[in-house]
Amino acid sequence: MSNSHRADQHYENGARKIDTEFWVERKALVTGHMGFKGTWLTELLSILGARVAGYGKDDRSPLLYNEMMIERHAHNIGDICQTDRMRQVLVDSGAEILFHLAAQPIVLTSYEDPVGTFEDNIMGTVKVLEAARAAPNLKAVVIVTSDKVYHNNSWIWGYRESDTLGGSDPYSASKAAAEIVTASMIASFFNKPGMPRVATVRAGNVIGGGDWAPFRLLPDAARALGQDRALIVRNPQSTRPWQHVLDPLGGYVMLAEDLAHAATPMPRTWNFGPAMEDALPVCMIADLFVSEWGNGASWRHEDGGAAAAKEATLLAVDSTQARRELGWSPTWRVQQAVARTSAWYRDYYAGADPKSLVDRDIRDFLAR
Ligand SMILES: NC(=O)c1ccc[n+]([C@@H]2O[C@H](COP(=O)([O-])OP(=O)(O)OC[C@H]3O[C@@H](n4cnc5c(N)ncnc54)[C@H](O)[C@@H]3O)[C@@H](O)[C@H]2O)c1
Repeated sequence: MSNSHRADQHYENGARKIDTEFWVERKALVTGHMGFKGTWLTELLSILGARVAGYGKDDRSPLLYNEMMIERHAHNIGDICQTDRMRQVLVDSGAEILFHLAAQPIVLTSYEDPVGTFEDNIMGTVKVLEAARAAPNLKAVVIVTSDKVYHNNSWIWGYRESDTLGGSDPYSASKAAAEIVTASMIASFFNKPGMPRVATVRAGNVIGGGDWAPFRLLPDAARALGQDRALIVRNPQSTRPWQHVLDPLGGYVMLAEDLAHAATPMPRTWNFGPAMEDALPVCMIADLFVSEWGNGASWRHEDGGAAAAKEATLLAVDSTQARRELGWSPTWRVQQAVARTSAWYRDYYAGADPKSLVDRDIRDFLAR
């Protein structure tokens, strides 16, 4: 990437910060805005002063999005696979920036519903990019995939953007396919003057308050401890990279700023992972979570069966490119991320307003 606009970037204490001026009144569209990451991103953009439109559907309950009154955003319900409606909402929003997050994101669910997972994650991405071709104001498109797009060699090193794609489970394969789809759409349609810049972003497991998804460790932990039960852990030795949801979201936002300004092509794919030392086994995360929770909280191991055993045993990404080319670096180490998440759920169960808890984390994050 050219570093030509680096001088305009906002650095403090050596780390780049989000360019808050860039986002004031900036029009953006978030797909999957009712989901966990989408809700945090929509609230972050709203706090930054952007004019956000959301497009997605979600009938889960409880749902963080429904518990929050997010200001400065337009709420559109629809399926990303409905091309005409998706295109209409995108054009009507006048968005200059598009963040595509809508997806079926759970590995275990992808074994139960491989067809739905492939439809949402592959054809959904095709249709979002097709809509993006017709949106006249669009300058930047950020397609969210996953660290699971890499062919998993179970090695100790972090995967780089240039490493081989793979994915033996349907979720991972669908996200790797979304990468190939995006690469093809860029080469075929977006690498032309006047077209928006498009990139994919690959992050791993994120944590933070208000995620109620099944089969994820910290939501499982919060549900158990919130009801005075012990947390049951399926794979205590599984090592994962852990990071607070705001850290990759901050990276997506900075990448969008650069894509919107870029005079020359930028790398097509970006990893946003935690420091390698923050890839910790599940048992250590469970220890951190119950210790922050207090009140005698505890966890224990139980066998998760064949499907649980199918989850990849080690995955970490190398984020050198994002550090060097964007100036991005994670804000919170794993201990802080887990402690903040545990405190979020503990305070939620004690009756705190979820929006004030999200805003507390966002304001601390922006003030770092
Ligand atoms: N949470 C993580 O740890 C994690 C890790 C890596 C990648 N990701 C990726 O980040 C993105 C967001 O994940 P999340 O954790 O917020 O998941 P989520 O399930 O909470 O959010 C996804 C949202 O998209 C919606 N959606 C799904 N299919 C749709 C469709 N066809 N049309 C419209 N809306 C649809 C869902 O209902 C949900 O509201 C996903 O692309 C996911 O694969 C998440």
